[in-house]
Amino acid sequence: MSRLMTPLRIGPVQLPNRIGMPPMVRLSPHVPPEVIGETGDVTDAVVEHYRRRAAAGTGLVIVEATCVDPSGRVWKQGLNAFDPSHIPGLRALASAIATAGSVPGIQLVHGGPQADPGLFGGVTWGPSAVAPSVGELEPCELELRDILRIQGRFVEAATLAAEAGFRFIELHAAHGYLLDSFISPIRNQRTDAFGGSLENRMRMIVDIVLRMKVAVGERAAVGARISVFTHIADGFGEPELVTMVRSLEQAHSDFVDLSVDRVLRPAFGGDKSMGQLARSATRLPVLVAGGLATPMDAERTIAEGHGDVACIGRAMLSDPDWAKSAAAQMTSPSAADAR
Ligand SMILES: Cc1cc2nc3c(=O)[nH]c(=O)nc-3n(C[C@H](O)[C@H](O)[C@H](O)COP(=O)(O)O)c2cc1C
Repeated sequence: MSRLMTPLRIGPVQLPNRIGMPPMVRLSPHVPPEVIGETGDVTDAVVEHYRRRAAAGTGLVIVEATCVDPSGRVWKQGLNAFDPSHIPGLRALASAIATAGSVPGIQLVHGGPQADPGLFGGVTWGPSAVAPSVGELEPCELELRDILRIQGRFVEAATLAAEAGFRFIELHAAHGYLLDSFISPIRNQRTDAFGGSLENRMRMIVDIVLRMKVAVGERAAVGARISVFTHIADGFGEPELVTMVRSLEQAHSDFVDLSVDRVLRPAFGGDKSMGQLARSATRLPVLVAGGLATPMDAERTIAEGHGDVACIGRAMLSDPDWAKSAAAQMTSPSAADAR
């Protein structure tokens, strides 16, 4: 019996199998120009892009990083969830994914220092006035009232997403955007309750998860995507991974989504992968993505305990029927032999 094809409960939702499509903005050579579009509106082509991957049998389809506030917009063609006028498009997406048999998920983002001020005519924001990298724009430091306002925007966007029918809602707390900047010991130089120790630097995320949980209730699973590997140069290792995962658990997250460079590779010089370490630190289901290309990679991910959901990014962008091929392989005798 394939482990990959086994159902999984995540908070209030049941996945039919453990194959996930991770959030991916459509700006990719693998995505046809009509799907990318010009404006960030949910067109029929955008709906079809996600519906196809759902209809192939992907258990969880997480719609790309979707912006919670104009000041956090990163891509002209990116989706938005900060105004009731966005609900019909989001509802069309959630409904198409659910009707195709998959759990509709969505990721919520604020670009922070990586936002594009050309899109909203303002300044960029960060935990401290530290540029994302050399030569890049220095963001303005958020004052407490701005922090509370942005937290509120995430909660409002989550409420809007739940109203639109999404059953899995994750914060984008990875890859250098606003929430990840709070985690960074370099970019977060604050001396208040949102800076200092890693527990304090996680507070921005923890607070939002708690408030989302209250706002969304049983309508959707809520949690966050974090990336530890992007902070290795900042000295992050196993203890930081464990602290981050446990902070999310204490905030009543329903899951932890780990973005890693290679799911099946040992981490931090030991013999366990980041997913295995995260799973040993929490009871929560752990989603993993990074370098999973074949169905057997995904099956190994689950069978060897690297994660509870195997998310397939670029391979699923280039092959919308990836999950269908996986299901066929998993029921064939050769797949059973390979385990
Ligand atoms: C075109 C593209 C867009 C992406 N957009 C997002 C995104 O919106 N949010 C996010 O957390 N990660 C994003 N990622 C990262 C993927 O979710 C995934 O973690 C990464 O591609 C590694 O998985 P893979 O090796 O299976 O592709 C993106 C990746 C690609 C290739």
